[in-house]
Amino acid sequence: MPAEISALPADPTSTAALAGRGLRMSAIDATDDAAVRAWVEADARGFHDGAPTDEFLAELRDDFVLQRTIGVFDDTLADPAIPIATVAGWPAPVTLPGGEVDAWAISAVTVAPTHRRRGIARAMLEGELRTAVEAGLPMAVLTVSEATIYGRYGFGPVTWASRFEVDVRRAGWVGADAPGRVQLISREIAMTTARTLFDEARRATPGDVGIVGHRFDRLFGAPSDAAERRKRRFVRYDDESGTPRGLAVYHVSEDPHDWSAQILEVDYLVTTTDDAYRALWRYLFELDLIGTVKASLRSTDEPLTWLVANPRMIRTLELREHLWARVLDAPAVLSARTYGGAGSLTLRVRDPLGFADGVFSIETDAAGTARVAQAEASSGPLIDLPVDLLAPLLFGGVSAATLAAAGRITERAPGDAATADGLLRSARQPVLTTWF
Ligand SMILES: CC(C)(COP(=O)(O)OP(=O)(O)OC[C@H]1O[C@@H](n2cnc3c(N)ncnc32)[C@H](O)[C@@H]1OP(=O)(O)O)[C@@H](O)C(=O)NCCC(=O)NCCS
Repeated sequence: MPAEISALPADPTSTAALAGRGLRMSAIDATDDAAVRAWVEADARGFHDGAPTDEFLAELRDDFVLQRTIGVFDDTLADPAIPIATVAGWPAPVTLPGGEVDAWAISAVTVAPTHRRRGIARAMLEGELRTAVEAGLPMAVLTVSEATIYGRYGFGPVTWASRFEVDVRRAGWVGADAPGRVQLISREIAMTTARTLFDEARRATPGDVGIVGHRFDRLFGAPSDAAERRKRRFVRYDDESGTPRGLAVYHVSEDPHDWSAQILEVDYLVTTTDDAYRALWRYLFELDLIGTVKASLRSTDEPLTWLVANPRMIRTLELREHLWARVLDAPAVLSARTYGGAGSLTLRVRDPLGFADGVFSIETDAAGTARVAQAEASSGPLIDLPVDLLAPLLFGGVSAATLAAAGRITERAPGDAATADGLLRSARQPVLTTWF
């Protein structure tokens, strides 16, 4: 992979396929302001967002050197400079149970309404997967607008995100005290430790993805959105030695009916210790003039449920899949994680696109370290599965027994799914704490 990701050319196979349909696919020059503006305009149009402001473009500008940005152009249009399709990709670390891999993160997939359903998205997506393979990345990841699009390319959902609201006046905090202290800080002070905290928490959280460029800053209020930025408040937990262990970013909006019971929304909460987790949630729950606390992109097994007397006051508003992953190199990803103890398992993976097709044997020792090999034949526990379910099992968030019950995977013998679960299940549910 070149030092500069933005210098990677467009995938030649997809470029040729689209050229055959009169379309020009090319990588956007990250230094060309006009080309970048046109691409951002196309991306915004694709998601029905307003035209980008100069401030927004300035905020994004530096990210273009961190990603390979693809546009597909129809040179016969009245305005041919604006691409009719967009996609961007970049390498990012992704955490697995007991390990991590570098993956190709894909974003900004759009096709203009005038050109949809002609296979342009398919050409772009398959191009992104080939690019990842050529760059030596064993997996691709994305977050999605619709859950029906990416299974056909071999992606499966690997994390689930919970959005909930809490009636904090009736929840009743029962968590143990934390020995450190909580303090309100400025954005500037928050930013000095935010990166370290995020990276440490990310490495300990299966399903979380390293974040680059402006997407990280946006967690603290988008620089281009002054009104939103002004509302953000920052609070930090330091342990007894004074070391920062957690950070919460939140804003408050008025309840028009009751000013004494306003609504607090958690924009971002990161903690690296259990003490910090308890202390920050407690701070948010016990603020005066707040009746409701809302949070999103939270795990499906938040310890919070067990920190209140009345868990029914934590009302789930939405539960849905968030990170989707696609395995490209099965031995590489299977040996990058640790397992639930000594054992053996064979996976027969069926991949119509060919990248991860094959039979893979996994032998684990008591420490949970695996030796993975491509196998011709095997005996013992075996799971036969389509490639889109390999990543969900790899991240350990779904049970093989559940997938077998749904008829989505097949056991060689009864009990093989239970064996797989003993090895593969993650102690904590995987979660992705941001969007990309
Ligand atoms: C979603 C989108 C990128 C699809 O682009 P496209 O060029 O029309 O897609 P293709 O013609 O390559 O179709 C590829 C396949 O996806 C399916 N598909 C396309 N859009 C779909 C959608 N919105 N929901 C479900 N399936 C969809 C097609 O039926 C086709 O299936 P097949 O290969 O099994 O026949 C495009 O409609 C779009 O830009 N939508 C708005 C932005 C968006 O939602 N982007 C996704 C971000 S995660």
